[in-house]
Amino acid sequence: MNIAVFASGRGSNLMAILNAIKEGKLNAKISLVISNNSNAGALEIARANGIDALHISRKQFSSDEEYVQKILNELKSRNVELIVLAGYMKKIPSEIIKEYPNKILNIHPALLPAFGGQGMYGLNVHKAVIESGVKITGVTVHIVDEEYDHGPIVMQRAVEVRDDDTPETLAERVLKVEHEIYPQAIKLFVEGKIKVSGRKVIIKDEN
Ligand code: GAR
Repeated sequence: MNIAVFASGRGSNLMAILNAIKEGKLNAKISLVISNNSNAGALEIARANGIDALHISRKQFSSDEEYVQKILNELKSRNVELIVLAGYMKKIPSEIIKEYPNKILNIHPALLPAFGGQGMYGLNVHKAVIESGVKITGVTVHIVDEEYDHGPIVMQRAVEVRDDDTPETLAERVLKVEHEIYPQAIKLFVEGKIKVSGRKVIIKDEN
């Protein structure tokens, strides 16, 4: 299965997915990496691994239609079947969601529906978690729909919040879990084991 990864930042989740592919744990190909940020580490990682790496930003186009069309053309010409958001900080236009129904995944560094929504990304999330006093946070992989951090949940893992945590120490422990579960969640998709029923994702039996 051809996968496109959209990423805005350093790309450690992209790296984890690539490693899972290299280790034979995930039978898929990353055909394309798109970033809205020309300096993204994710673009460098892609290029270093021989993957097409494109900087595509709304600012480069005179209309929303041209912007969306450019992304769709790049996806279609590579037969991309699954889009994986890995620290992508832009909203996915609804035309792309319509073209890829239940075929766009996102990872969020908290247990949704808590600590999600616009502005909740990266360290902001961990700051809010610590300030709220919750004892448990975690990681959520979900399907992308038209609302931020809202679509059906595929997989979640809990991470303990320690009394002496800073946003940085918490981010580090959460990130390790992200790297473990994102390739696992993608694998379920690639193997056709995911069924979406309303708000629920049902993971089909092994048999
Ligand atoms: C990850 O922690 C990811 O969960 C988060 O951005 C980071 C990207 O790191 N995503 C969000 O906050 C989305 N709301 P990476 O570039 O090293 O993969």
